[in-house]
Amino acid sequence: MTTSTILSIDNSSNTYANKINNIVTKLTMTRPDDWHLHLRDGAVLPTTVRHSVQRFARAIIMPNLKSPIVNTDQAQAYQKRILQALPTHYNFKPLMTLYLTDQLTTTELQKAVASGIIYAVKLYPSGVTTNSASGIKSIESIYPIFETLQRLDVPLSIHAEVSDPQIDIFDREKVFLEDYLGKIIKSFPELRIIIEHITTSQAVDFVKEASTQVAATITIQHLLYNRNAMLLGGIRPHLYCLPILKRAHHQQALLTAAISGNPKFFLGTDSAPHAQSTKECSCGCAGCYTAHAAIELYAEVFEQAGALDKLEAFAAFYGADFYRLPHNQERLQLVKAAWTVPDAYSFGANQVIPLRAGEKVTWKLDC
Ligand code: NCD
Ligand code: ZN
Repeated sequence: MTTSTILSIDNSSNTYANKINNIVTKLTMTRPDDWHLHLRDGAVLPTTVRHSVQRFARAIIMPNLKSPIVNTDQAQAYQKRILQALPTHYNFKPLMTLYLTDQLTTTELQKAVASGIIYAVKLYPSGVTTNSASGIKSIESIYPIFETLQRLDVPLSIHAEVSDPQIDIFDREKVFLEDYLGKIIKSFPELRIIIEHITTSQAVDFVKEASTQVAATITIQHLLYNRNAMLLGGIRPHLYCLPILKRAHHQQALLTAAISGNPKFFLGTDSAPHAQSTKECSCGCAGCYTAHAAIELYAEVFEQAGALDKLEAFAAFYGADFYRLPHNQERLQLVKAAWTVPDAYSFGANQVIPLRAGEKVTWKLDC
C-alpha cells in the first residue's frame, strides 16, 4: 500500500519529510550554511557563487586567494566582489575571514572585529596546502596572536596538518593534533577553535574529548570516499584534496561523528575548485569542487546511514551556534529525483570538473 504523509522527522527538529512506502521522497529543512568554502576570485565567481547561494544562506569564505586576504580592507573589497556576483533573488551572507600571517597585529584584529564582517582568522601552516606559502612557519612564535584572538573572542580556524616533509602525508593531521593543537588548547582554553575538514578517527576523538570551545567541520568528500576511491584502478585527480582521503575506518569514524547529533561536528564543504588543466597534469592541485551538489550529497550520505533526521542540525544549527549566529529562517526543499551532474562547469576562461561529473546524484534541489 502506498502512503504519502507529511510528518515531522523528529520532535526536536524542523525537518519535514514526505514519505511514500516509508521512503523519504521530499525533505524540507532550514536553509543550511557552509562553514568552510573557497569561492576564489575574479571571472570564476559567477559559477562558484551561484552554486553555493542556491543551497546555502551563509558561508565562511576562506582567505587563501593567490594574494591572501590579510587585512580588513582586503576582506571588505573581496566581500563586495562576491556580492556583485550574486544572482538576483538570492540572499547570501559571505562571512569573511583573515589569513593569519605573523604580521597580523592587534590593531588590525581590533579593526577586523569593529568591521563586523570578519568571523574567523584562518591558520595555515606554511606549505601545507593550496596557496599556503604565506602561512605560519613557527606555531610557537604566534602565541601572542592567539592571546589576542582569545581576548577579542575571534574564532581560530585551523588547517590542522603539519607540513614537515619528514612526516608521511597520511599522518599529517594526527601529528598536528599531537604536537601542536593540544598545547594551543591548553594555553588558550577560552579560544574558540574550528579544526577544519577533519579526516581521521584521531581527530574525531580529539574533538569529542576537547572542551566545548573546540569544534570541527566535515566535508562531503571525506564522508563519501576513502583513499581507495582516489587510487584504486587508476589515479583520480578530482578526488585529490588536502587533507588527503584516508582509510575506510577513518571515513566510518567521520560518518559516525556527523550523524551522532554531537554539536561539535558540523557541515563545511571545503569546496575548492581548480581549473581542469591544473588538476589533470603531472603535479595536480589539491581540492575537490563540490558546491554544485553539496547539500544533495550530504543528504545522500545521511540517508544511506539512516540518519536523515540528523541532517538539519548538522547543516543548519550546530555551526551557527558555534559561531554564535542566529539560525536561518528560510527553508530549503530537496526532492528524491536523480539527476546527472554535468561533465564540467565553466570556470572563467577554463572549466572545472565537479565531483560526480557525468554521474548521478539522487537528491535534487526543489526550486
Ligand atoms: C584547498 C584549496 O584548494 O584552496 N584545497 C584542498 O585540497 N582542500 C585548500 C585547503 O582547504 O586545504
Ligand atoms: Zn579549504
